[in-house]
Amino acid sequence: MKVLMVCLGNICRSPLAEGVLKDKAKKHQLNWVIESAGTNGLHNGEAPHPLSQKVALQHGIDIRDQVSRRCTATDFDVYDKIYVMADDVMHQLKQIAGKKFDVNKVDYFLNELQPNSNAAVPDPWYGNEDGYIKVYDIINKTCDAIIEKYK
Ligand code: 4NP
Repeated sequence: MKVLMVCLGNICRSPLAEGVLKDKAKKHQLNWVIESAGTNGLHNGEAPHPLSQKVALQHGIDIRDQVSRRCTATDFDVYDKIYVMADDVMHQLKQIAGKKFDVNKVDYFLNELQPNSNAAVPDPWYGNEDGYIKVYDIINKTCDAIIEKYK
Protein backbone atom coordinates (compact mmCIF):
# COMPACT_ATOMS: atom_id res chain seq x y z
CA MET A 1 0.00 0.00 0.00
CA LYS A 2 1.21 3.49 -0.87
CA VAL A 3 -0.09 6.24 1.39
CA LEU A 4 0.21 10.01 1.07
CA MET A 5 -0.56 12.31 4.02
CA VAL A 6 -1.54 15.84 2.98
CA CYS A 7 -1.84 19.09 4.96
CA LEU A 8 -1.31 22.75 4.00
CA GLY A 9 2.38 23.41 4.62
CA ASN A 10 3.74 19.86 4.95
CA ILE A 11 5.71 20.97 7.99
CA CYS A 12 3.41 20.38 11.01
CA ARG A 13 0.66 17.74 10.67
CA SER A 14 1.41 15.56 7.65
CA PRO A 15 5.11 15.03 8.53
CA LEU A 16 3.95 13.73 11.94
CA ALA A 17 1.38 11.47 10.28
CA GLU A 18 4.07 10.18 7.89
CA GLY A 19 6.54 9.52 10.71
CA VAL A 20 4.03 7.88 13.05
CA LEU A 21 2.47 5.61 10.41
CA LYS A 22 5.93 4.62 9.10
CA ASP A 23 6.96 3.68 12.63
CA LYS A 24 3.84 1.55 13.19
CA ALA A 25 4.07 -0.09 9.74
CA LYS A 26 7.69 -1.04 10.44
CA LYS A 27 6.75 -2.52 13.81
CA HIS A 28 4.05 -4.59 12.09
CA GLN A 29 6.50 -5.60 9.32
CA LEU A 30 4.25 -4.03 6.70
CA ASN A 31 6.00 -3.11 3.48
CA TRP A 32 4.07 0.13 2.95
CA VAL A 33 5.31 3.30 1.26
CA ILE A 34 4.26 6.30 3.36
CA GLU A 35 5.00 9.88 2.36
CA SER A 36 3.58 13.36 2.86
CA ALA A 37 3.04 16.60 0.97
CA GLY A 38 1.39 20.01 1.36
CA THR A 39 -1.03 21.99 -0.74
CA ASN A 40 0.43 25.47 -0.37
CA GLY A 41 4.09 24.94 -1.29
CA LEU A 42 5.10 27.78 1.06
CA HIS A 43 7.66 25.64 2.87
CA ASN A 44 9.05 23.63 -0.04
CA GLY A 45 12.46 22.20 0.81
CA GLU A 46 12.13 22.77 4.55
CA ALA A 47 12.40 20.23 7.34
CA PRO A 48 9.37 19.66 9.62
CA HIS A 49 8.55 22.36 12.18
CA PRO A 50 10.88 22.13 15.22
CA LEU A 51 7.94 21.36 17.54
CA SER A 52 6.73 18.54 15.27
CA GLN A 53 10.28 17.17 15.32
CA LYS A 54 10.41 17.53 19.11
CA VAL A 55 7.11 15.81 19.88
CA ALA A 56 7.94 12.98 17.47
CA LEU A 57 11.36 12.48 19.02
CA GLN A 58 9.77 12.34 22.48
CA HIS A 59 8.06 9.20 21.16
CA GLY A 60 11.23 7.80 19.62
CA ILE A 61 10.38 8.88 16.06
CA ASP A 62 12.95 10.87 14.08
CA ILE A 63 11.34 12.97 11.32
CA ARG A 64 14.11 15.53 10.87
CA ASP A 65 15.16 14.19 7.44
CA GLN A 66 11.77 14.81 5.87
CA VAL A 67 11.62 17.56 3.22
CA SER A 68 8.47 19.57 2.53
CA ARG A 69 7.05 19.40 -0.98
CA ARG A 70 3.87 20.53 -2.70
CA CYS A 71 1.48 17.81 -3.83
CA THR A 72 0.86 17.34 -7.55
CA ALA A 73 -1.84 15.86 -9.79
CA THR A 74 0.48 12.91 -10.55
CA ASP A 75 0.36 11.90 -6.89
CA PHE A 76 -2.98 10.34 -7.87
CA ASP A 77 -1.09 7.97 -10.21
CA VAL A 78 1.36 6.95 -7.49
CA TYR A 79 -0.58 6.51 -4.23
CA ASP A 80 -3.38 4.10 -3.31
CA LYS A 81 -4.64 6.17 -0.41
CA ILE A 82 -4.43 9.95 0.06
CA TYR A 83 -5.41 11.38 3.44
CA VAL A 84 -6.23 15.05 3.91
CA MET A 85 -6.04 16.73 7.29
CA ALA A 86 -8.94 19.18 6.87
CA ASP A 87 -11.56 20.75 4.59
CA ASP A 88 -9.29 23.50 3.27
CA VAL A 89 -6.72 20.87 2.33
CA MET A 90 -9.40 18.82 0.52
CA HIS A 91 -10.50 21.90 -1.40
CA GLN A 92 -6.97 22.85 -2.48
CA LEU A 93 -6.08 19.26 -3.37
CA LYS A 94 -9.10 19.12 -5.71
CA GLN A 95 -7.85 22.24 -7.45
CA ILE A 96 -4.30 20.94 -7.76
CA ALA A 97 -5.38 17.49 -9.00
CA GLY A 98 -7.95 18.69 -11.53
CA LYS A 99 -9.10 15.74 -13.68
CA LYS A 100 -6.80 13.37 -11.81
CA PHE A 101 -8.75 13.84 -8.56
CA ASP A 102 -10.08 10.43 -7.52
CA VAL A 103 -12.69 10.30 -4.76
CA ASN A 104 -11.98 6.60 -4.27
CA LYS A 105 -8.42 7.35 -3.18
CA VAL A 106 -8.97 10.42 -1.00
CA ASP A 107 -10.38 10.53 2.49
CA TYR A 108 -10.22 12.70 5.56
CA PHE A 109 -7.49 11.27 7.78
CA LEU A 110 -9.70 11.51 10.88
CA ASN A 111 -12.43 9.43 9.24
CA GLU A 112 -10.29 6.40 10.09
CA LEU A 113 -10.79 7.21 13.79
CA GLN A 114 -14.21 8.86 13.61
CA PRO A 115 -15.94 7.40 10.54
CA ASN A 116 -17.89 9.82 8.33
CA SER A 117 -17.06 12.78 10.57
CA ASN A 118 -14.99 14.61 7.92
CA ALA A 119 -13.39 16.23 10.97
CA ALA A 120 -10.18 18.25 10.88
CA VAL A 121 -6.89 17.58 12.61
CA PRO A 122 -6.40 21.01 14.24
CA ASP A 123 -3.60 23.05 12.69
CA PRO A 124 -0.95 23.62 15.39
CA TRP A 125 0.94 26.16 13.23
CA TYR A 126 -0.59 29.20 14.95
CA GLY A 127 -0.28 27.89 18.53
CA ASN A 128 2.21 26.68 21.10
CA GLU A 129 3.73 23.32 22.04
CA ASP A 130 0.48 22.10 23.65
CA GLY A 131 -1.11 22.08 20.21
CA TYR A 132 1.60 19.82 18.82
CA ILE A 133 1.22 17.42 21.75
CA LYS A 134 -2.56 17.22 21.17
CA VAL A 135 -2.11 16.74 17.44
CA TYR A 136 0.43 13.99 18.04
CA ASP A 137 -2.09 12.14 20.20
CA ILE A 138 -4.83 12.41 17.54
CA ILE A 139 -2.45 11.29 14.80
CA ASN A 140 -1.15 8.40 16.90
CA LYS A 141 -4.65 7.05 17.59
CA THR A 142 -5.70 7.45 13.97
CA CYS A 143 -2.59 5.65 12.71
CA ASP A 144 -3.39 2.76 15.08
CA ALA A 145 -6.83 2.57 13.44
CA ILE A 146 -5.28 2.61 9.94
CA ILE A 147 -2.92 -0.24 10.87
CA GLU A 148 -5.75 -2.32 12.34
CA LYS A 149 -7.91 -1.78 9.25
CA TYR A 150 -5.36 -2.40 6.48
CA LYS A 151 -2.66 -4.64 7.98
P1 4NP B 1 0.60 22.24 8.38
O1 4NP B 1 0.62 23.67 9.13
O2 4NP B 1 -0.40 22.38 7.25
O3 4NP B 1 0.13 21.29 9.42
O4 4NP B 1 2.01 21.98 7.89
C1 4NP B 1 0.86 24.87 8.43
C2 4NP B 1 2.15 25.30 8.26
C3 4NP B 1 2.38 26.47 7.58
C4 4NP B 1 1.32 27.21 7.08
C5 4NP B 1 0.02 26.76 7.26
C6 4NP B 1 -0.22 25.58 7.94
N1 4NP B 1 1.55 28.40 6.38
O5 4NP B 1 0.58 29.04 5.93
O6 4NP B 1 2.71 28.83 6.22
